Amino acid sequence: MAGDVPPETIGPWPKGAYSLYQMSCRGCHGNSANVNVGTIPALNQAHRYLGVKGGRPYLIRAPGVANSPLTDRQTAAVLNWVLKHKTPVNNFIPFTTEEVAKHRQASNNALAERAKLNARMAALEDWQ
Ligand code: HEC
Repeated sequence: MAGDVPPETIGPWPKGAYSLYQMSCRGCHGNSANVNVGTIPALNQAHRYLGVKGGRPYLIRAPGVANSPLTDRQTAAVLNWVLKHKTPVNNFIPFTTEEVAKHRQASNNALAERAKLNARMAALEDWQ
């Protein structure tokens, strides 16, 4: 299956997860990943979802992630790359292939799910 090509063999972009981002994500999220374009969110705050219930699986279930042609392993790699390189995450526990496989079912209504998670984040901030 084409999606099973190891990331390091995919050219001509730089090797590894960055090339996966270039091919599968950049078209929507942009090279810098730090600007909102219409309903396409910047990814530089994506780590905040890790702090609320349901947020971690949501990052896998976001439609552009769940529906990408990438394998589960590649998806874990690109998500880990985004979190490590595009967000100021602390104490990050990397996504695993198994975790992606378990949760990889695209959200039916990602914007509503996102809004619910954002409300959870806001509630956390109020409490602090
Ligand atoms: C077709 C455009 C598109 C593509 C391609 C795409 N995304 Fe997204 N992404 C979105 C939109 C729009 C959302 C907001 C939720 C929604 O409406 O689906 C989102 C949400 C996300 C989120 C959750 C963060 C948040 O603020 O909601 C992450 C993480 C993410 N995308 C990462 C990726 C990665 C990694 C890839 C490549 C594998 C990718 N996206 C490909 C459009 C896209």
